[in-house]
Amino acid sequence: MGATLKIYQMKSLQGMSHPRVIVLGNEKGGTGKSTVSMHIITYLLKHGYSVASIDIDARQGTLSRYLSNRAQQKEKNRPDLAMPKHFEIFNSTLENRTEANAEETERFDETFAKCQDCDFVVIDTPGNDTFLSRYAHSHADVVITPINDSLIDLDMLVRLDPASKEILKPSLYAENVWDQKKNKAIRNHGKIDWVVVRNRKNIAHAKGKNSIEPILSALSKRIGFRFVCGFSERIIFKELFLEGMTLTDIDPKSQKMRLAHVAARQELVQLMDAILGNHTDKQVKQISA
Ligand SMILES: Nc1ncnc2c1ncn2[C@@H]1O[C@H](COP(=O)(O)OP(=O)(O)O)[C@@H](O)[C@H]1O
Ligand SMILES: [Mg+2]
Repeated sequence: MGATLKIYQMKSLQGMSHPRVIVLGNEKGGTGKSTVSMHIITYLLKHGYSVASIDIDARQGTLSRYLSNRAQQKEKNRPDLAMPKHFEIFNSTLENRTEANAEETERFDETFAKCQDCDFVVIDTPGNDTFLSRYAHSHADVVITPINDSLIDLDMLVRLDPASKEILKPSLYAENVWDQKKNKAIRNHGKIDWVVVRNRKNIAHAKGKNSIEPILSALSKRIGFRFVCGFSERIIFKELFLEGMTLTDIDPKSQKMRLAHVAARQELVQLMDAILGNHTDKQVKQISA
C-alpha cells in the first residue's frame, strides 16, 4: 500500500482540470456495484483525494445507506473516517416521459455542478436501464462494470449461443455503453474507458470448465473494454456494510485484519491501479491472467 500511496502523492491534483468521473454500471442487480463504488470512494479519500458520490439508484439506496452507516460509525467509534460529499438523485415521477427526462436531466446537471470542486465523482447506478443511468454514463471518464463469476453474468455483455458459446451479438448494455461513448464525444470530444471487473470470484471454480476468463478475454477486444480481476467472494464484504466501513478502513494491526483481508486489500489496490492508470497494458494483462 505504501508504494501505491507514494505514486498517488506524486500525481499533481492541480493537473486535473475537472473531476474524474467514475460510473459503476451494468443492467443486473447484485453484482457488486454499490459495494465496489463504496470501496473506490473510501480508497480515494484515504489517499487524500476529495470525492463526491452520487447515488442515482436512490430508490434502492444501497450506497446512501452504506454511507449513513459510515456516518454513524464515525460519530460513535471512528472519528478518523473520511466522508465524501454525497448526493441522491431520484427518478422523476412525471408521467410524460419527455417532461420526466427533462426534469431528470436538470436534477443531474444541478447535482453534477455541485461536484466540480472535487477530484473525483463516483456515481452508483441501478441494475436496470433508465434515462438517468444512461445520462450519467455519458458523463463518465471510466465506466466500471462488475460481473459475477458465471456464464449468466456474461449475458450482460454479450448474447452467447448456449451450446457452442459462440458470440451472437452484443448485449443491450454493451450497445448502451457504445451510445454513451458517442454522446460524450459529441458533447465535448471526451472518451470513456470501459473496465469490466470480475467480482465474487469463486477461487475453486476459477479454472474450471465454466471459467469465464477465456470468453472475457476474447470479448474485451471485440466489445471494447479492459478487464481486471476484481474481488473474490468474501464474507467480510457483507460484515463491513453494516459497520459502514471498507477494507481500506481496517487497521492492519487490528485483530480484524486476517490473512484473507490482506489478499482482498491487494485486490483493491490492483483495481485502483487499473482505474487510475498506474499500470502498463502488460500489467493489466497479468492482473487478469
Ligand atoms: N466480493 C464479494 N464477496 C461477498 N459478497 C459480496 C461481494 N461483493 C458484493 N457482495 C454482496 O453482494 C450483495 C450485492 O452487492 P451490491 O454491491 O449491493 O450489488 P449491486 O449494487 O450491483 O446490486 C451484497 O449483499 C454485498 O454485500
Ligand atoms: Mg446497488
